[in-house]
Parts: sequence; structure tokens; C-alpha cells
Amino acid sequence: MSQAYQANKSSEEIVGKEEAAQMYKMSANENPFGPSPRATEAMQASLSQLGLYPPYSDIALREKLAAVHGRGLTADNFVLSNGGSEALHLTAMAYLDAQSSILQCPPAFPVYERTAKQQGAGIINVPLDSETFAYYPEAIKKAIQPSTRVVYICNPNNPTGTTFAQDVFEALLSAIPDDVLMVYDEVYYHFASNVTLPDVIAAVLAEKNVFVVHSFSKSYGLAGLRLGYGMGRPEIIARLEAQKNAFHVNALALKAGEAALTDYEHIQKTVTNNTAGRKFISESLQAMGLRVWPSEANFVLFEVPQGVAAADLADRLLEHKIMVRPAFGLDHHLRVSVALPEANETFVHAMKALI
Ligand SMILES: Cc1ncc(COP(=O)(O)O)c(C=O)c1O
Repeated sequence: MSQAYQANKSSEEIVGKEEAAQMYKMSANENPFGPSPRATEAMQASLSQLGLYPPYSDIALREKLAAVHGRGLTADNFVLSNGGSEALHLTAMAYLDAQSSILQCPPAFPVYERTAKQQGAGIINVPLDSETFAYYPEAIKKAIQPSTRVVYICNPNNPTGTTFAQDVFEALLSAIPDDVLMVYDEVYYHFASNVTLPDVIAAVLAEKNVFVVHSFSKSYGLAGLRLGYGMGRPEIIARLEAQKNAFHVNALALKAGEAALTDYEHIQKTVTNNTAGRKFISESLQAMGLRVWPSEANFVLFEVPQGVAAADLADRLLEHKIMVRPAFGLDHHLRVSVALPEANETFVHAMKALI
């Protein structure tokens, strides 16, 4: 098995503490600038209050989310979660049981399948196009069963970085019956700088059966804090709220979330760095003759050269202090997170040396 990335292990566990400190971690799509400084300040100011429980109601952050997203959304359109992953878990708990099934389009974020299986639900796979990673609304329509409760859509998709626009979103909405929930995972949306993503908020406001997942782990740089949220019509939100444990989002996360949301400078810096780094990495890999997919996320997917095993290349990159991730659901591919220029350049030099 590859040394390079093991989803359930930290870099320290994989390569040891000393090595990890010198490693360019380009495997988990984290923010290379770290947390929003405003979030850090808010957390520091809250430290002396940690002897107290968080406020019983999380309304302050939900109201701020409504204000920031605007367009007439209210706090009732939002549910907070312990990372976007918990929003996915709450969805599975609220909608799935052993008699039900989900539909996903591999290669897909593994948490969809994991949380569905935890509820005993069956899994229907309608793979993305093997060349372009496009969704097939017609194939999805045909594959949906009477037992299907949730269809998972991810845009920009992890691990491919690929996106689709409004026309495909509408085709997907038409393809999925009204009584089946579309989970629309948009945790990478800030990074989509070259395309216009579908207007999913219009679908939420139109009370469509759509639940949108966002995260503070990516553009806000708070992956370690565990904070995410979902957006949907109030009936969906109430169903998920009913699954929550009290105080599941901790007091620091509530404060940091409020501060990070309007730290537009940090978001802008993050997105600008990402757009430039993504272009540099993509073009450099292409210049080496490698196949690269157009990414609108904070990572780039590429195919490893013929005759090279992706896991072996990932291991060799470790020797150059670069940690990347073999792309889940895709043999012969690696996924590299965009980092700071020095790391991106080190990665490109290492690739040149290795292939
Ligand atoms: C597609 C997708 N959805 C959801 C998440 C959840 O992120 P988190 O639980 O860190 O908010 C991730 C994290 O990598 C992701 O890639």
C-alpha cells in the first residue's frame, strides 16, 4: 500500500513528526494561508469563556449566514454542522434507512457512501463520463428507484475539480423526482474563478428539494476547527435539526465562523493565490505531456504516465517532501492540492525529476 496518503492518518503518523514538519502537505485541500486572522482573533478573545457551554441557540451564526448570502434567505434556511461532513451525516440520518437507497456519481466524495451505509441504505452508482467527468441527468433519471431518497451532486466535484453550469443543474433538477432530495455539495464554490456556477440559492428560495452543503474548512481555512453548514428550505432544515445533538458545534467554532464569514480580504487572498497556483500546476503538468482536467477547485487532478502506478509516484513525491493524494475512485490518477508558490514549484520540479 502507498505510504503517501492514508485518509485515516495524519501526515505525522505517515512520515513521522520531524519529516511532517518539513513536508509540503498537498493532499487534503486545506488553505495554505491557514485560518482567517479575524477568526483567530475571535477565538483568542473567547478562550477565557471556555468554561461555559456554547449558547444553546446557534441563531447568531445562522443569521450572519443569511445576511452574508442575502437574497432574502433567513436563519431558517440554515443548519450548522461539525464540518460539512456532519451536514452529510445529518442528511443520511434524517432521510435514510435500511429500506432506502442513495444515488451517487463516482468518482465521488467517499462520505456520501459511508454515511449512507451507516444507515443500511443501498448504493446506486451512475458514474460520471469517463473522459470529461460530466454528469448524465438522463442516466440518473433512469437509475433512480422507488427506494431512492437522496441523490448526491458535487460541483466543483472532488476529486476531479470539474464543474457544470446552470443548464446541467436544471436538467438534474428535472431528472430527480420532487420527493427525492438532491444534496448539492458546493464546498469548493469560492474557488470557481473561471466559470459561473449554477444559481442554487434560487432553487432553495423556490423551495426545491435541494440541500446545499458548504464548509469552513476550505476558503476560510478552518479545517481543524470543524465547522460547516447546510442551506435548504425550512422543512429540510427542520428535519436535519431534529437529528442534532446539543452543543455539537463548539463555542470557538461559532465565534470563528462569524468572524471568518466577512473576512473578505482573507477569502480574496486565498482565491487569488489558488487561481494562480492552479494555473501554474495545470500548465506545468500539461507541458510534461500529462493529462490534466480543468479544475475550478483548490486541487488539480492528473493522470500519471503510462506504466507508472499512481501510488508509487505518490511515494516518490514524498521523498521530495511533497504529500499528494491518490484520487479515490480513479486508478492511475493523483490529486494535488494547490498550495503556496514555493510548494507548487517544489511539486513541479519533483514531477519533472520523477517522470
Ligand atoms: C466534496 C466535499 N464535501 C464535503 C467535505 C467536507 O469537509 P469538512 O467536513 O471538512 O467541512 C469535503 C472535504 O474535503 C469535500 O471534499
